[in-house]
Amino acid sequence: MSLKILQFGATGQLARELLDRRTDGVEIRALSRADVDLADADAVSRAVGEAGELDLVINAAAYTAVDKAESEPDLAYAVNARAPRAMACACQARGAPLVQVSTDMVFSGAKDGAYAEDDPVGPLHVYGASKLAGEDAVLDNCDRAIVLRVSWLFSAYGQNFLQAMLRLGQTQPVLKVVADQRARPTASGDVAAFVLSQAPRLAGLPAGAAEWGLLHFANAGVATRFEMAEAIFAAAWPDRPPPAMEPVPTSAFPTPARRALNAELDCSRLGAVFGVEPRPWREPLAEVVAKIVDANNRKVA
Ligand SMILES: NC(=O)c1ccc[n+]([C@@H]2O[C@H](COP(=O)([O-])OP(=O)(O)OC[C@H]3O[C@@H](n4cnc5c(N)ncnc54)[C@H](OP(=O)(O)O)[C@@H]3O)[C@@H](O)[C@H]2O)c1
Repeated sequence: MSLKILQFGATGQLARELLDRRTDGVEIRALSRADVDLADADAVSRAVGEAGELDLVINAAAYTAVDKAESEPDLAYAVNARAPRAMACACQARGAPLVQVSTDMVFSGAKDGAYAEDDPVGPLHVYGASKLAGEDAVLDNCDRAIVLRVSWLFSAYGQNFLQAMLRLGQTQPVLKVVADQRARPTASGDVAAFVLSQAPRLAGLPAGAAEWGLLHFANAGVATRFEMAEAIFAAAWPDRPPPAMEPVPTSAFPTPARRALNAELDCSRLGAVFGVEPRPWREPLAEVVAKIVDANNRKVA
């Protein structure tokens, strides 16, 4: 008997990494925007209610346009808060557990050290506030739910910092890269592997178990954006000098949504409760860069 997972999101970077890791014992039914628009909470409820046999629901979809959210708060809240609420209520009604993916951007960045799950939140922008509202909605309405906060995701899929650096590193004479924001860069693939490795356990876990609730997952090690860019170039082009780079402060790139300077997640609960210690971020980063370079070389050949 295989494990039956309903996944919101089919095209995003995390969604695709989850789909890549399907095994014989795991069936994932992934819903794209065309299947269910998350701005429609009733459609979300129906999708969970009518899903047939169900062992776990994963929400890997979100409104992720951090700056655009400042001018589209209603849509951001609909997708990031009201849709997760509908999922949580529908999961509770049918006794299915829920994994809701969230973000380090619920924190203000003012702390001088890593953020633990129970640290005070203080989002700096609409996106962070909408994701926080989604966290609360899930935890208030489903007693078998994990809210998994991740940070600085990278992947060979989709638009992310790693992809942007590889593109700009080939086109810009001098790359200005922010050097005062720090966090734990995290491979979407490692997040996906963790979630799927826990799926059988979560499917049978009762309400009240220690596993439920807020949980931080990030690869080990902290970096600034500048240090991450250096690692990307070293992995992509080991035999040639890296592109010229200039470290700049966050204030050099004014954005509608203010960025937190410190987004480091403390992942000790992950070790204590799940016995999982994520590997250093440079390992999956090198793997992802190699995958992209290899795919590009095959396109050229
Ligand atoms: N990326 C990061 O650095 C980062 C950091 C921390 C936390 N997170 C969190 O991690 C999770 C996964 O992020 P990601 O980077 O994989 O996101 P992503 O690549 O931007 O993908 C977002 C997904 O959500 C879908 N979506 C957006 N609006 C929708 C709607 N109205 N109806 C249905 N689907 C909709 C998108 O579908 P379309 O393709 O149709 O637009 C896409 O599949 C999210 O919860 C995000 O908040 C991300």
